[in-house]
Amino acid sequence: MLSAKTIEIVKSTAPILEMRGKEITTTFYRNLFVKHPELLNIFNHANQEKGRQQTALANTVTAAAHYIDKLEVLLPVVKQIAHKHRSLAIKPEHYPIVGENLLEAIKEVLGEAATDEIIGAWAEAYGAIADVFIAVEKEMYEEVQEAAGGWADYKDFIVMDKVRESENITSIVLKPADGQALPEFKPGQYMTIRMTIPGEQYLMNRQYSLTCSPNREYYRISVKKELLESSPDGKVSNYLHTQLKVGDRLEVTAPAGDFTLNVMESEPVYFIAGGVGITPFMSMLHTLSERNPERKAVLKHAVKNEQVQPFKEEIKQLAQRLSNFEALFYMSDDKRKMTSEDLQGLDPSGIYYVCGPAGFMNFAVSSLRDAGISEDRIHHEFFGPAMQLEESK
Ligand code: HEM
Repeated sequence: MLSAKTIEIVKSTAPILEMRGKEITTTFYRNLFVKHPELLNIFNHANQEKGRQQTALANTVTAAAHYIDKLEVLLPVVKQIAHKHRSLAIKPEHYPIVGENLLEAIKEVLGEAATDEIIGAWAEAYGAIADVFIAVEKEMYEEVQEAAGGWADYKDFIVMDKVRESENITSIVLKPADGQALPEFKPGQYMTIRMTIPGEQYLMNRQYSLTCSPNREYYRISVKKELLESSPDGKVSNYLHTQLKVGDRLEVTAPAGDFTLNVMESEPVYFIAGGVGITPFMSMLHTLSERNPERKAVLKHAVKNEQVQPFKEEIKQLAQRLSNFEALFYMSDDKRKMTSEDLQGLDPSGIYYVCGPAGFMNFAVSSLRDAGISEDRIHHEFFGPAMQLEESK
């Protein structure tokens, strides 16, 4: 339990830390990787190099400070982050390293203003927040390890197939190297793949949505080839597109994430996707077609043009198996861009899933809200650097 005094200090100094958040975060990462270069095997360093690394970690700690006396309200947000951490094999022993470097960064940036009393209070607060994460992640590790066919951390998989889905999206089919049966996953979940890329000093990892239905044999992911120069995901996605071969090995963590669909429910389901944001919906649609093919489902997919539109044939086949399904495509290059009108007049009793890049997400979610769809019926996952606690409340 934190003392009333600690809580008061943390709450009253949180706005100062937030104001200096960017400096603190930059200092934090710089020091962290100098002292612990091994962590570059875990963090997405392309993000750091481009100066667009997630301010999420430090921001979340300061944002969480506002709830320091009622951390339980943060549980839904903590769970989402904990899924990511579990998927990256983050362990309890990593927390003190992050805590120590965060406190040092606060001291370095605030200088004398950071008195011993203030730093002491923040050390306690960080400890309390970290304990919540560690406890939630412990349960998640137990769950994946105890599941039939489950495993903790990374396991070797072999590339069985590579299929070009469009000009810039390629699917990769993976099977476990030990030939064991795989655990079930939930449609909409993602997994981390880790690899050594020639010329790179550290291991690289990325998360990709599964695009097949849950099965005991294989996983399929579908990767967009990003621009090598301007995207932090360029190196990995180009490697996967151009160098990875059938028969190669990749390391994989068990599927994670809570952007999932319970296919057995009955309310109409609307999938609204921007570009490669269609990937989690492919798994949801396949699972629906196998387990509840009469459920009403609508897919609205915005893409640039037909060349980059993935899964054309596959969606046609899904339409034959789903008896109450409609798929609509919007192509911005052909002046058929998705507009807010396309998201009006939809069923308020439906459930909505939105996925895509940040700009698309803002557009789609606000259009749905304006069209009278209640907040608790809209689920969204944005593809790109992390969510912010304040925004996701
Ligand atoms: C209480 C402490 C922590 C908080 C509040 C926190 C918060 C966050 C948040 C908000 C994200 C973004 C989640 C998303 O993308 O949905 C994240 C991602 C991540 N966290 Fe944590 N985190 C903490 C501790 C740690 C520790 C101890 C490690 C490991 C050393 C770690 C490693 C990562 C990594 C590698 C990512 C993925 C993003 C990237 O590669 O840059 N975090 N964390």
